[in-house]
Amino acid sequence: MDGCSRHPINPFELWLRLNYNHGVSEEFASPIDASTRICAVYGFPIRHSASPAMQNAGIAALGLNWRYIACEVAPETLRAAIEGAKTMRLVGLNLTVPHKLLAVDFVDAFDESVKNWGAVNTVRIEGRDKSGTWLPIYEFTDTQPDKIRAQGFNTDADAITRSLHEDLGIQLAGARVLLLGAGGAGRVAALKLAAENVAELFLVNRTHSKASAVAAEIRRRHMNVKIQVGYPRGEVDLCINATSVGLAAGDPLPFDNRQFSLRQALTVYDMIYRPAETPFLATAKAGGSRIANGLGMLLYQGAKALEIWSGKTAPIAIMRAALVKNVYGADDSK
Ligand code: ATR
Repeated sequence: MDGCSRHPINPFELWLRLNYNHGVSEEFASPIDASTRICAVYGFPIRHSASPAMQNAGIAALGLNWRYIACEVAPETLRAAIEGAKTMRLVGLNLTVPHKLLAVDFVDAFDESVKNWGAVNTVRIEGRDKSGTWLPIYEFTDTQPDKIRAQGFNTDADAITRSLHEDLGIQLAGARVLLLGAGGAGRVAALKLAAENVAELFLVNRTHSKASAVAAEIRRRHMNVKIQVGYPRGEVDLCINATSVGLAAGDPLPFDNRQFSLRQALTVYDMIYRPAETPFLATAKAGGSRIANGLGMLLYQGAKALEIWSGKTAPIAIMRAALVKNVYGADDSK
């Protein structure tokens, strides 16, 4: 099939190379030719992104003649950039800060996951065939689609809870949680935590009205969850940073330390994975909390996105190895 590799590769060898620091050399990827298809992540900023390393390793392991690139897209040009992806028939997109909420207005169709979580982090470009069926756009090789659309998905929600379970060993049902941030990622996290039956959820956001809107939605949908806008008194089982504060060197802590101390949190999770230890996580670690960064969340949302685009099972171990190598470097791949 056009768009797929003609060079079968050995996934085990690829995994070995990634784990033993040789990296993914070009010999594992299909050569770029006229059939090569592109996936991209749009963000602003985007240079911190480890998604290209992770996705290109996954793409190579699946034997696809695709490449995954990162594009710096300013929020005011997001609509045009999504239209451009349709025009140029990209396979699909990932969306990161600050596009996940904005994109809801710019895609043409929603998967159930977007209806559930209200934000888009994955887009599949699709074409409509003569029978009216929507198919991934790369399947149109000898025929032309009569229409092209961008379908939005959300793969963050499941990735958040999977990573919290695996990386912090936390039991969410019945937990008290402080969530910092009510943008695209924060909103999805809040709704997913409520769906997991946390007992109490405290929401804090720079723009108070956004936290209030998320709280109102949770009160409507999850009456069993006690939700409050503001900082908790006493201990919480988990504190999550879902803001973008910490991405840039010199960023302050993402909360008001006159109103809350990380010593109140048994476990602390930062959705940011680069730097691998933000001041937020370093402070939490120094105070004795168990910590994890957003690497696991990035892995699982990305693996699911690759499955949505390709229809194949994502090679998780290979994608994880690529990610760890990219974020921690060759000498500290734990
Ligand atoms: P994403 O889609 O990745 O969640 P986003 O929707 O732009 O990106 O959300 C970014 C989050 O970081 C928001 O909670 C934002 O707060 P506002 O809703 O008030 O914009 C938060 N954030 C960004 N910069 C911040 C800053 N300097 N101080 C505090 N919070 C900040």
